[in-house]
Amino acid sequence: MADMASRFAGGLVVKGVAETEDLAARIASGLQSGDVIALEGDLGAGKTTLVRGILRTLGVVEAVPSPTFTLVQEYAAAGLRIAHCDLYRVESVTELDELGLDDALSEGVVLVEWPERAPERIPGDALNIRIEITGESERRMHLSGPQRWAHLLASKGN
Ligand SMILES: Nc1ncnc2c1ncn2[C@@H]1O[C@H](COP(=O)(O)OP(=O)(O)O)[C@@H](O)[C@H]1O
Ligand SMILES: [Mg+2]
Repeated sequence: MADMASRFAGGLVVKGVAETEDLAARIASGLQSGDVIALEGDLGAGKTTLVRGILRTLGVVEAVPSPTFTLVQEYAAAGLRIAHCDLYRVESVTELDELGLDDALSEGVVLVEWPERAPERIPGDALNIRIEITGESERRMHLSGPQRWAHLLASKGN
């Protein structure tokens, strides 16, 4: 099917925070309004680290706290509205509605940690990144999503 053909999936090994930040910079360079980046992985995998890298690349200079308790933090940079969500503590659909996730999805870029807590709210064209901890500072990034992101799998540093 055309839809399947326009998707990609693959893995990338990063060795150290600097390489995760390099991946973040490459994601940031391709971001457009309406994009959703869904970040899965255990606590300490590096989801927030990746988000910080994306936001820094876009020019966010303020502190980027983990939204574990606030559930959502909003930023404006590079002409984009960016919502950073953490659904770890979300317990009900009502809470999701109060969070304004649907508004955020329609208005800008959404970077969401623990998307598996609300799979029905994550659009089918999201870029999915599952971070697997493979060593103290090594991570395997399992990427999948629309073909336009497939270049992320190419070797680092151009
Ligand atoms: N390659 C790596 N990529 C991302 N984080 C790493 C890496 N290696 C070690 N770390 C460390 O792992 C932790 C990741 O924390 P965080 O980004 O808050 O994870 P999460 O949001 O997934 O719970 C940080 O302390 C970071 O320094
Ligand atoms: Mg986090």
